[in-house]
Amino acid sequence: MTVVVAVLAAGALAAGAVSGRGPALEPSVHSVPTSATSADPATSGTPARPAPSGTPDPTAVPSFDRSAYSIDDPASLWLVVDKTRPLNPVDYTPTDLVDVPVPHIWPPKLRREASDAVVALFGAFTAETGLQLQSQSSYRSFSTQVDVYNQDVASNGQAFADTSTARPGTSEHQTGLAIDISALPGDCSLEACFGDTRHGMWLAQNAWRFGFLLRYPADKVPVTGYGYEPWHFRYIGFELATEMHDTGVTTLEEFFGLPAAPGYN
Ligand code: DAL
Ligand code: ZN
Repeated sequence: MTVVVAVLAAGALAAGAVSGRGPALEPSVHSVPTSATSADPATSGTPARPAPSGTPDPTAVPSFDRSAYSIDDPASLWLVVDKTRPLNPVDYTPTDLVDVPVPHIWPPKLRREASDAVVALFGAFTAETGLQLQSQSSYRSFSTQVDVYNQDVASNGQAFADTSTARPGTSEHQTGLAIDISALPGDCSLEACFGDTRHGMWLAQNAWRFGFLLRYPADKVPVTGYGYEPWHFRYIGFELATEMHDTGVTTLEEFFGLPAAPGYN
């Protein structure tokens, strides 16, 4: 027996949470098998449950549909890009970049929905802590990523650079969905100790409320291929961020059942 369950679009939820705008993605409808049983609870020890009536339960919580959106399309909020999953095309450029109206080191640009979410996050952070955040780095074009990567190689050598900066064509920053955040005034900017600041701790605990994921956790280096980056947050939308938070899965690779990406193919 199946019950048809309408699953709300991730972007629609995210938009409702932070921007009021809808995504260019459609909601999906799928079938979810129920676990209705004919066993006698009195003799089987199975907790009693209502007999299936054929009518969907309006209070039932829709199950999360991991296939609702593409993890391959560079325009998808659920895109998974890592050392083994380059952008296609490698020089993909988002079409809805906007200026992000927050304090910054470099003038920040992000995709519109991510920008709205950053504004909401920065505002909540200041309201809840009395402190301030700033954007360090956000959207980077392919050519900018070339410059950033080459600079890291020149300063630190290629082996180290490959644990800290994505090679051009494989950076989340090229999607317009990633932002590096630091304290204002600066404190441990782009350093692991940022994670121990009040700013970094609040972000680690609360970014999911605004649709963001701390993408490179300290204990997942073998999965992500990058060192701990408590400053790098990836916008994935409210629905997915909430599901990952609630299930305790901390990397996109693990959530979507993808291979670990410790190195380039
Ligand atoms: N620092 C991250 C891995 C990037 O360059 O995209
Ligand atoms: Zn980053």
